[in-house]
Parts: sequence; C-alpha cells; structure tokens
Amino acid sequence: CGIVGYVGEKRAQDVVIEGLRRLEYRGYDSAGIALVATGTIASDKRAGKLANLEKAIADRPLPPATVGIGHTRWATHGAPNDVNAHPHSGAQRRVALVHNGIIENFAELRVGIEADDVALLSETDTEVAAQLLEAEVLTGADLTTAMLRLVNRLEGAFTLVAVDALDPSRVVAARRNSPLVVGIGDGENFLGSDVAAFIEHTREAMELSQDQVVTITRSGVSVRNFDGSSAEGRRYHVDWDLSAAEKDGHDWFMRKEIHEQPRAVADSLLGRRTPEGRLHLDEMRLSDQELRDVDKVIIIACGTSFYAGMVAKYAIEHWTRVPVEVELASEFRYRDPILDYSTLVVAISQSGETADTLQAIRHARTQRSKVLAICNTNGSTIPRESDAVIYTHAGPEIGVASTKGFLTQLVACYLLALYLAQVKGTRYGDEIDEVMRQLEAMPDHIATVLASADAIYAMAAEHVDTRSVLFLGRHAGYPVALEGALKLKELAYIHAEGFAAGELKHGPIALVESGLPVLCVVPPAGRDQLRDKMVSGIQEVRARGARTICLVEDGDDAITPYADTVIRLPKVPVLLQPLVAVVPLQLFACELATRMGHDVDQPRNLAKSVTVE
Ligand code: G6P
Repeated sequence: CGIVGYVGEKRAQDVVIEGLRRLEYRGYDSAGIALVATGTIASDKRAGKLANLEKAIADRPLPPATVGIGHTRWATHGAPNDVNAHPHSGAQRRVALVHNGIIENFAELRVGIEADDVALLSETDTEVAAQLLEAEVLTGADLTTAMLRLVNRLEGAFTLVAVDALDPSRVVAARRNSPLVVGIGDGENFLGSDVAAFIEHTREAMELSQDQVVTITRSGVSVRNFDGSSAEGRRYHVDWDLSAAEKDGHDWFMRKEIHEQPRAVADSLLGRRTPEGRLHLDEMRLSDQELRDVDKVIIIACGTSFYAGMVAKYAIEHWTRVPVEVELASEFRYRDPILDYSTLVVAISQSGETADTLQAIRHARTQRSKVLAICNTNGSTIPRESDAVIYTHAGPEIGVASTKGFLTQLVACYLLALYLAQVKGTRYGDEIDEVMRQLEAMPDHIATVLASADAIYAMAAEHVDTRSVLFLGRHAGYPVALEGALKLKELAYIHAEGFAAGELKHGPIALVESGLPVLCVVPPAGRDQLRDKMVSGIQEVRARGARTICLVEDGDDAITPYADTVIRLPKVPVLLQPLVAVVPLQLFACELATRMGHDVDQPRNLAKSVTVE
C-alpha cells in the first residue's frame, strides 16, 4: 500500500492526491483521502484506481484544508470496495487513520470493541485500530500520546498515519516492520511510504527505525520510541529528482525504465575500482576475514529478484568455488535451514521492504549468519537490518514489473562474486580485471539490443492472440527463461512457463503442439557444447510443430534453419549473457500487454512492494 501525510500551508488535497499518484504503484485496489477541516474530518474513498477518487472529489469537492492523509491500497483484509478502502474513522469521526500491513491480533481486539456496542462498518483490521485510537483521543490524550498507547496494543506489521479532527497542527504516524519515511520541508512536512510521495516538494528525508512514532507539524518533526522515550531519525538527501519519477514522453514507466537500463547498469558499476585496480564495495561492512570464513552462501529473494539470485549462483560458484543455494524467501525459514556464522546470506530486494525477504533475513541473523543485502532503495528496512549492503543504482523503479531493477541486481551479484573471489584469492587480479572490463562494456551491448526494439515489437504484434508461450534456457539462460515467462504472466496475463531446456524432454515437451510459440535463449558457442545441446532441444520442439523464436549471439548462423524468428544478441561471455538476453523478453512482454490493452505499469492483482507475508 502507499501512504501519504501532509501538514503545511499548501492545499493538502493537492499534495496528498499528487503523492498518492506517485505511490500508486504500491497498490491500486482502492484509494482514499482525509482532511482536517474546521473541526471535522472531511474524507472520501473509492474502490479502484486513484482516478475514481479524483473524479469523486471533483464532483463533490472537499473543503479547503492544509492537513491531510491519503492511502492507496493493496487489499489484505476485506474485498477492495468503497467501505473497506482507507481512511477509516472511529464511530464519532474524531480521528481518521490509514494503514499499511496486517494487525495480527485484530480479531481479538474487534471482539473487545463490539462488546462495547460499537458497530464496525468494514471488515478491515484498520477500522479496529481507528476505533481504538479514537477511544484514546476521547479520553483527552493528544494524538501522539493516543498513538503511543494504541501501538502498544497491536501485534503484527503496520505503518499507521492519523489525524485528529480537533487538532489541525499535526499528523502522527507509527511504524513497525512496514515502510515510512519523513519528508522535511520549510514550513511544511510530509510522510510517505517512500520518498516518491513528496519528491516534488523536498529532497530532504528522514529515515525512521522500527517501533517508532513520529509527529510532524508545520515547524518540526519529533520521534518517539514505542516505549515513549525520545529518539532521532537519520536525515539524508535523496539523490534523484522529480524527472526520475516522470514518464518522460514514454507511454509507460516500464518502457522508460527498460530504456534506462544502459545508464542504470553503468551507474551500478561506477566507482567500484580503486586507483590500484582492486574491487571496492562502499558498504561492504564485512571484513576480509569474515568473508574468507564464508563456506556457504544462501541467496534469498522473491519474484524477479529470485531469478537474479539464480544467476548469482552460477557466477559465485564459478568464480569462488563456494557452494551457493538459492531459495524463495517465503519458504526459507519454514524448513529449518542449516545456517551458522560461516554462512553468508544474501538478500536481494529492489524495494528493500518485501516482508517475506525481511523475515527471512531476521531468521538468518538469529542463527548468527551474516546478511548482505542487494538493494535499490536507500533508507529501506532490509539494508538497515543487514550487516552489509551493495546498493544498485537503478534510480526509482515505478513500473510494477521489475526491469532495470533486475539488470542492476545482476550487476551487483557479479560484483559480489568477483569481490569474494578477490578476497578469497580464488581468481587472479587480471582475471577479475578482465571480467570488470567485460561488465563495463555491457551498457553499450544493452543499448544495441534496445536499438532493435522495433523488430521485437513487430513480433509482439503477431502474438496478440497467443494464449500460451514456453521459454527455454540453459545455464545462466535458464533464469532468463523464467524471468521472460514471469514478465508475460505479470503483464499480458498469458500462460507462460520457463524451463531448463534439458528438462524439456522429461515432461514439458508434452505441452508442445502445432503453432505453440517457444522462446529459446541460446547460450553462446563455447567449449562445453551447451549451445549444441540447446540446438537439439530446439529441433525437438520444432519437430512437434512449435514456432521457435531464438535469441542467439551475433554470428551464430547455424541456428537459422531451426528458428522461425531469430533475435540477435551481442557477443558476450555466457555468465554475463542474462544482461542482454532478458532485454528482448522485457520489450516483448511490454509491447504485447500494450497491444492487448492492459495497464502495463499497474497489472491486475499485483503491487510493487509487498509488505505483508
Ligand atoms: C513483487 C513485485 C515483483 C518483485 C517482487 C520482489 O512481487 O511485483 O516485481 O520482483 O515483489 O520485490 P523486491 O522489491 O523484494 O525485489
């Protein structure tokens, strides 16, 4: 979900709606706003996208106000209808509250409230919290005190932001295991799930820790721990500006972000080498000795980030000879994984807020393992709770389906693998240098792939009626196949599956029928005959009537007789091939979904940052 709070001199309605528009990628099942206007709460909330709310308040304007909160929802408790949308109020409409997360003991708290004969309107856990907050305020407590009392009764993960109808001086928020940042302005202050909420007003932000309550007024920000003691947030400057959060002439954020990939990859490689030519990672807070002691790496992540982790396994094992496991974060802690101080757990998360990943790293740390985060979001929870971080420098990724986030994660994984190789001495300096040079050439190669986007778009145009697509890959091309399939599922709502090409003959080949499109990521020709085995797989599906679309390295003409369509990739080493091979698959999914009339940036049922388990 996306959350906004504002107190200042401007029209709060405009600031809140604009903030919600920039956070809509975090959830778009419903949206709502509440303002403090001359002693009352003025609010509106609507199912569906933000546009529905905007239309409602255009038809029935809210009174002028300079204090307000807003919410855009990804439903957890209760269907995404008008009643369940946030904000929620108490029975007397004294407070309004928005919430992200899940209050786990809400059923129990609800029983208590209903015993007092208060009728609840919605099915949400949030209304229960609003009711309790209001009861505290009605005892005469100020909103900050009331919030402190409330949070001590709640279990689970939450960000709460509230206003009091009779106190137009402040907005109060609380966070536990759910994102919240403060925007520091001049005569105005902001709250947001991330900095996009207020980036057009200020680039000065404050990061909060877990279990803190923050009060913003026009002139200041004060932070308290849940036990009531006072605390300080960490101030930081946001190093991207408004243009990064605009579409810049593209029809979709996703298309813009795909085209930003050469720059994002280049930025993620910047400043990683010392003048002496050694690899250097800024926030690698683990000592060389700690890294030398690592005898096993476990990578945990979700969705697209998980596929970056699969590529990392190939790279780390190849360059360092340290065994690597890759595991879905949501499965990790439930299988009682074998961890100790010599296990390095690598958490990959673009947003840094994914609850499954966060809980997995917490478990790892209780087992004394060191945790390294690969993350794109400064100030987010996962890097803050990790022992070390490699930040990717993709800039904000707004499209729900990850693109430049994925490519820059790959870069970070290669850097980590090389860094471990350097520290452990498993590779010579000149070998590492050579790979770094190859990596530094990748932005140009990615640009070459992007230059032939029109050919991919033409191919997408031919597939608008397709109901099923298979993706095949081997080695580092296998995760690429999985990612290509995920992109089609997410955006085009097409049945798509990725397979390891060698596994095809052990079952999935039964799916192949006449005319089925099969996208094949062909490995570069090498000594290990991987490519030749891939070619056999392509022949096998073609013999059964499949339409083969082959991504092949430039100059590999031997594949042409078996390919209905050939997409050329620049010549790059097999381990780095995902950086170029995934790009046509992103373009394909984006274009196909566009032609099918889907909302590419906000696919149905998804959210960018899933902060519940
Ligand atoms: C959500 C998004 C995916 C993303 C996954 C992991 O499911 O829709 O695009 O890959 O979360 O996100 P993270 O921020 O942890 O990389």
